[in-house]
Amino acid sequence: MNERIIIFDTTLRDGEQSPGASLNVYEKLEIARQLAKLKVDVIEAGFPVSSPAQFEAVKRIADESEVIIAGLARTKEIDIKSAYDSLRNAKHPRIHIFLCTSDIHILGKFADSKYGLTLEEKRKTILKMSVDAVTYAKALVPDVEFSAEDAGRTDIGYLSEVIEAVIEAGANTVNIPDTTGYTFPTEFGAKIADLKKRVKNIDKAIISVHCHNDLGLAVANSISAIQNGARQIECTINGIGERAGNASLEEIVMALKVRNDICNYYTDIDITEIYNTSRMVSGFTGIIVQPNKAVVGENAFAHESGIHQDGVLKSKQTYEIMTPESVGVNKTKIVLGRHSGRHGLKSRLGELGYHPSEEEMQKIYEAFLVLADKKKEIFDDDLRVLMGDEIYKEEELYELQYLHVNAGTDVIPTATVRIKSNEKMLQESSTGDGPVDASFNAIERALELKLVVESYNVRSVTSGRQALGEAIVRIRNGENSFTGRGTSTDIIEASAKAFLQAINQYLLFTKASIEFHQDELAIK
Ligand code: KIV
Ligand code: ZN
Repeated sequence: MNERIIIFDTTLRDGEQSPGASLNVYEKLEIARQLAKLKVDVIEAGFPVSSPAQFEAVKRIADESEVIIAGLARTKEIDIKSAYDSLRNAKHPRIHIFLCTSDIHILGKFADSKYGLTLEEKRKTILKMSVDAVTYAKALVPDVEFSAEDAGRTDIGYLSEVIEAVIEAGANTVNIPDTTGYTFPTEFGAKIADLKKRVKNIDKAIISVHCHNDLGLAVANSISAIQNGARQIECTINGIGERAGNASLEEIVMALKVRNDICNYYTDIDITEIYNTSRMVSGFTGIIVQPNKAVVGENAFAHESGIHQDGVLKSKQTYEIMTPESVGVNKTKIVLGRHSGRHGLKSRLGELGYHPSEEEMQKIYEAFLVLADKKKEIFDDDLRVLMGDEIYKEEELYELQYLHVNAGTDVIPTATVRIKSNEKMLQESSTGDGPVDASFNAIERALELKLVVESYNVRSVTSGRQALGEAIVRIRNGENSFTGRGTSTDIIEASAKAFLQAINQYLLFTKASIEFHQDELAIK
């Protein structure tokens, strides 16, 4: 008999923890709406206590959503209270509490003697903190989830004790994360089966799993967990997340669908929305989907060799185990142009999952016309990039007004930039190793900054000579990295815009953290 699997999407929380993948509130709202259209069961919208921007995003999503919205919290009262406040207007709020349970984490993170002198004492403290936190959260909302961080490396006896105690305290869902992506599918599946045997009250809660992909086993581990009793899967679109990422939603859902003959479970996901969701997340986060990525990669349905092409032409089933159309890949390209009109543009955007307001629509239409002047045919991917770049931009401290570059085979590359800041204009010139380096140097000079460029990528968004070029620049400052994206039919301009956007992100983050810490000090 087919059993239903609950899909808990954590793209907006763990996914956003991918290096450089910060999303603003508007982008998160659009992704949350698209996730609802995809029919996920739970959206983990963020970690409210961690910053005012996180709080605001969770609140805005909770205010308008019909699905379950989860907010993450440590076991601290301030975290749980903040999660509760952000979820106050949610139709279905869930507080998601986590605390580590493995010896490695306990000894590493709770070394202070105030948590106990021996491992045994520290374990007791962790158990009590978990139970107290769940009890407190349960008094605020009916739906509480508890995660035993690093459960993959936790001793099964202690893990069972913690899980039993938090269920007793009222946890409706108990999550078993393989936080470090360390386990093997057989081992992880056995751990879930073992928990089912050892924990007396396990039937009172849903078993969830949350697998990371450090060894490329996140999806395999999740499926093995399902086969051994897990009924909720935590996953992200395109598998983004901390380090090597999380289990990929689209891969799990399609594996269950395609191999239902041997794995009798189903999800409520509307698989025709998979491709749109994947593109939207990639566009907003700036994390490019690798071409050979299962289900949503550019090559996932491309048949290159003659033998394969011949086979597919004779019968698709020879080399295709699912069709591109089933996951929403539109083979017939819809092309818009200068004469498509506002209405045509709005309706295509709606089909791609975007919901601009009237005011935003005015901005996108103007940007669309500028682009349509530069390139005759505008494809879906051009629109996705336009939406990512133009519409949901937050307050910008600096804006590129003018760029002039002199480069060639026999000249020293030189760039001049003019940057608008409030009503002030900053102008500077610089040389560099090439035109991009010269532009970056000129921007740094104008802003009197020196930054580490951690990564820089340029790609064409659509095919052909008139394709839009998209540049993605990641800069680092200490523990934090910031990504900027810029597009133009001129890749030097796209690069300069991307660099400036990353700088804007960095400066806005710094400003917000200073204000946040000032608030914290004021509270104390
Ligand atoms: O990987 C992890 O353990 C987590 C928890 C917060 C669920 O992300
Ligand atoms: Zn995680």
